Amino acid sequence: MADVQRTPVIAGNWKMNKFIAEAAATTSELVPLVSGVSGVKIIVCPVFTALSATADAAKGSNVEVGAQNCYTKESGAYTGEISPHMIKDAGCQWTIIGHSERREYFKESNALLNEKCAFALANGLKVMFCIGETLEQREGGQMNDVLRTQLVEGLQGRTDEEFKSIVIAYEPVWAIGTGVTATVEQAQEAHAFVRGVVRDTFGDAVADAVRIQYGGSVKPDNAGELIQNPDVDGFLVGGAALQAESFAAIIKAGAAN
Ligand code: PGA
Repeated sequence: MADVQRTPVIAGNWKMNKFIAEAAATTSELVPLVSGVSGVKIIVCPVFTALSATADAAKGSNVEVGAQNCYTKESGAYTGEISPHMIKDAGCQWTIIGHSERREYFKESNALLNEKCAFALANGLKVMFCIGETLEQREGGQMNDVLRTQLVEGLQGRTDEEFKSIVIAYEPVWAIGTGVTATVEQAQEAHAFVRGVVRDTFGDAVADAVRIQYGGSVKPDNAGELIQNPDVDGFLVGGAALQAESFAAIIKAGAAN
């Protein structure tokens, strides 16, 4: 395997939290806390209504801004949806695609997520593409099949060039918002498996370079050991990213590696 340096990507997924002023205030608090931190990519993902104010608060800093979802059309009669250009117009460079909450509550299929990812990339957004197994699937021995299917069906067709703008987020559903984090060993095992599937499907160059974030109850006190894993290249953080101070502590733990 080539010895490739993968700069960690640490993103806060604020989910359906924070009014506009709160999102801007948290960002303004975060910016000075992480201004001297290098060797890590930092992203916050607020709700749609707060994208623009958050991007304004982050302007000129090392904090980038992303959306939590993005549709497959440019404009038109798609009530309730938002396009990549609209997200970019709000000052953002990123979008999350395929979070398990979208898969579960909004029935987003691998086929739809493939389309969403392709369209976002084609229109100049970078993508954090989420995958992850439920507890039932893990205990039923289906974890590897589920992860392989989500990866292959969700990302098939993407080119080596497009993969430069894709980060994969491995988030075991049983660890999201539960306070139960995957152990360091469980995380490494899953991440190595995911990289192996990427290698088999998309080749060595993509597998060596693609960043794989871990997500699921990441906290300041477990980030440092999780990032030690050779295949963990950052985090997607929910609850612990809501406060600037704890998110900054996770960023510093990730960057210190
Ligand atoms: P959590 O959420 O950190 O609150 O577990 C992670 C996520 O869903 O991205």
